[in-house]
Amino acid sequence: MRKDSESPVVTKAARARDGLGALRHVLRRFTTPLLPDDYTQLVNPLWSVRELRGQIVSVSRATEGTVNLVIRPGWGVPVDFEAGQYIGIGVQIDGRYVWRSYSLTCSPRPAGDLLSITVRAVERGKLSNHLVGSAHPGMTVRIGAPAGDFHLTDPIPEKLLFITAGTGITPVISMLRTLADRNQFGDVTLIHSVRTDEDLLFPDVLEELRREHPGFTAIVRVTSREGRLTPETVGEIVPDVTERTAYACGPNEMLDALEAWWSELDTDEELRTERFTLDRSSEATGGEITFGHRGSCHADGATTLLEAAESAGIQLTFGCRMGICQTCVRPLTDGYVHDLRTGDVHGPGERIRTCVCVAAGDVSVDV
Ligand code: FES
Repeated sequence: MRKDSESPVVTKAARARDGLGALRHVLRRFTTPLLPDDYTQLVNPLWSVRELRGQIVSVSRATEGTVNLVIRPGWGVPVDFEAGQYIGIGVQIDGRYVWRSYSLTCSPRPAGDLLSITVRAVERGKLSNHLVGSAHPGMTVRIGAPAGDFHLTDPIPEKLLFITAGTGITPVISMLRTLADRNQFGDVTLIHSVRTDEDLLFPDVLEELRREHPGFTAIVRVTSREGRLTPETVGEIVPDVTERTAYACGPNEMLDALEAWWSELDTDEELRTERFTLDRSSEATGGEITFGHRGSCHADGATTLLEAAESAGIQLTFGCRMGICQTCVRPLTDGYVHDLRTGDVHGPGERIRTCVCVAAGDVSVDV
């Protein structure tokens, strides 16, 4: 957890974004009263000084209800991501931008190169269902910068174990491709769980990696035939599990079980997990939240500031509600909040994402 007195870490991507921000500001001054985008879009729909954009260049069916999308990143989209990270995708549906994050499935790219993601249609998944049903070459999407802590570490551990289920394989495919691209493929085991044979994503990629890298073992467990994947099964399949750095991505239930099991193992190796949904557990106590002059309410430590405002009848602007698009960012004027996505604590004067921050005591937000 970051201490409040620490200087924020300024990454290469963040510096690049600052530079672009300055350029956007200059362009805005020269093109007022029209917005710069009114001019740039006449030339190229991917040029925008307000937002990051990309254009879908190909759509291919991966499995029933799942598509692979290849996206050309537009001007300013940072492509120096780590293998395993996700990007935000925003698309206008019924007049409102809907956002969701998707793991990148490609290895890190040279600037301007194509990006790829895999999207599965899910119940109540407004954007995912829209993309599976309607994505087409030429379609422009908004892009949120790559983010996420679930990525390969440097140096690469000698022995790796990946445990995935369903679309949880997508960030791991990026990692496997990266290991192959960098000639760093050593002793790697993947245990992947799918409901049926037809649900298996990237069978050709796995087959090619198996062929080309003798140290790679890929075990696919079909749960409709063989039963659910449990930590005990993982222990049976991988006898040297305690010698491996592990990455796991899939449903929360599977990750909870793996984390509990791993904590009991006699190992110094790390298990890193990636969850698809916001984990609302934190040390935040909740408190009285004041929204400028618009009102106040009490919220517990699992209710985000955005949700608290809405329950009090105060409408704040928002986009993705997942900490990606930054539409909901407001200045925190008093008190401390916890960011549920990162675990960071933010204090007075910082700009916070109200959709993923919860109150740690009484707080005031400038709205
Ligand atoms: S609504 Fe998108 S970051 Fe909060």
